[in-house]
Amino acid sequence: MRRPVEQLVQEGGAGRLAEASARAEPAVSVEVHDVTVAYNRKPVLWDVDVSLPVGELIAIVGPNGAGKSTLLKAALGLIPLASGRITIFGRPIRQARSMVGYVPQRESVDWDFPVSVLDVVLMGRYGRLGWVRRPGRIDREVAMACLGKVGMTAYAARQISQLSGGQQQRVFLARALAQDASLYFMDEPFAGVDAATEKAIVEVLRQLRAAGKTVVAVHHDLQTVPEYFDHVVLLNMRLIAAGPVSSTFTHANLQRTYGGRLTLLDEAAESVRRNATEPLV
Ligand SMILES: Nc1ncnc2c1ncn2[C@@H]1O[C@H](COP(=O)(O)OP(=O)(O)O)[C@@H](O)[C@H]1O
Ligand SMILES: [Mg+2]
Repeated sequence: MRRPVEQLVQEGGAGRLAEASARAEPAVSVEVHDVTVAYNRKPVLWDVDVSLPVGELIAIVGPNGAGKSTLLKAALGLIPLASGRITIFGRPIRQARSMVGYVPQRESVDWDFPVSVLDVVLMGRYGRLGWVRRPGRIDREVAMACLGKVGMTAYAARQISQLSGGQQQRVFLARALAQDASLYFMDEPFAGVDAATEKAIVEVLRQLRAAGKTVVAVHHDLQTVPEYFDHVVLLNMRLIAAGPVSSTFTHANLQRTYGGRLTLLDEAAESVRRNATEPLV
């Protein structure tokens, strides 16, 4: 889904290109510049430098503890940077907050909070409401439409704690949709969901992309990276590689990202293959 300048010219003519450059539309969604992040003075992200494109589905991939969630939280301004800077559409996060949606890791949320599914989705509208306005009819209609997109209309009145993990994840996605952001950060949106929910989430991500939105998702399933994503960031405390999936998601780069652990995985896969094909004697 990369949209090179040539394509823009073909699609909209030079006029549109001139219009875009007159408005100085940044082609970069997230710019991470020399970023180091530390917890208790121990760095967990080192000198990360990466630019993410606009309008693509972008995976952040790396082993446990690689700093993937930390990178999202840093970009969202939820944790301080030890050094460096991050801009969102060319602005500091505090000026870009209304353009950004966040789907946190499911395990990081207290699901016992007594709130209905519809209320959770309506929270996505608060950024648009300001301090005093309460959600109105339009907000409820948008929220219900977003629940429809994730197949959860029938659960609107249900307490969020009474849903399965996959259903909770769908509701979180609906909340992000209700926000109508330009850029979405999602932390392992597919973790622990059933096949039907995975399909529903992929469908929503593709709709977001078709609408010109950018999605940056931490993703743990290497198998599905090429099918689901356009662009990939390989991370292991340091940036290992970043770019289009077709050129960046290579075995060599994965080796560098996962080190010995990938070798073990390879060996396991190889032995399964051998056992499956070798004739029994
Ligand atoms: N709040 C925190 N306080 C201290 N250390 C943390 C905190 N959050 C994460 N870490 C540590 O930072 C490293 C990166 O964590 P994280 O970003 O969650 O990795 P990932 O999402 O790639 O699994 C890990 O070693 C983790 O233990
Ligand atoms: Mg994580």
